[in-house]
Amino acid sequence: MRIDHEELAGLDRIYRLNIINSVSGIKPANLVATRSAEGISNVAIFSSVVHLGSDPALLGFIVRPAGNLPRNTYENILATGEYTINHIHPAIIERAHYTSAKFPKDVSEFERCGLTEEYTEGFTAPFVKESTIKLGMRFEEEIPIPRNNTTLIIGSVRLAIIPDRADAGEGHLDLEATEAVGISGLNTYYRLKKLAQFPYARPNNLPPL
Ligand SMILES: Cc1cc2nc3c(=O)[nH]c(=O)nc-3n(C[C@H](O)[C@H](O)[C@H](O)COP(=O)(O)O)c2cc1C
Repeated sequence: MRIDHEELAGLDRIYRLNIINSVSGIKPANLVATRSAEGISNVAIFSSVVHLGSDPALLGFIVRPAGNLPRNTYENILATGEYTINHIHPAIIERAHYTSAKFPKDVSEFERCGLTEEYTEGFTAPFVKESTIKLGMRFEEEIPIPRNNTTLIIGSVRLAIIPDRADAGEGHLDLEATEAVGISGLNTYYRLKKLAQFPYARPNNLPPL
């Protein structure tokens, strides 16, 4: 298959959506959980979480426009300044997937999708009890992307909860041990298999050709 930009523009909308959502390769599978100012919990699946830097420890994710519908995650983050990022694993992929349904603001996806809220001292935002790796985040800034009306949400890591089995030494995490999953497109989930681990690459430590 070879598709140039003109053919891309002429494709059926859903076909284009599927293919462009898949071409970037595997994306991380996370649940972003928040609490509204009124105290209603919210959780939704996001595949756009990205590392921005480790000092300070910053992660970003993209919030897409929702048309006329409210964007609960986004609004709750702006209202409270807090959110959590929770890894998805095989036992919860189906429940996690259906958090993407457009529920009204007064409905908690935790209840509707069968996930459990978990609270930790110092955070008003819920964590997802069933998740393995969990991050408590503080909202730092938002960067609007006018080209497609999306928003990059930038947050700092305030708390990282990591199970012992993920500890691969020197801060490395074994994501196969926690059964982290990867996402392609908007509805396909993959298992991860650790293939190799290499030293920091320098021009003078290349393996022999
Ligand atoms: C696999 C998958 C990945 C998704 N990733 C994103 C994403 O990165 N950004 C986004 O804005 N919406 C994403 N969505 C859609 C949101 O989950 C959906 O809009 C959800 O209703 C948002 O919830 P909220 O209105 O409570 O914030 C994704 C949906 C699926 C199924």
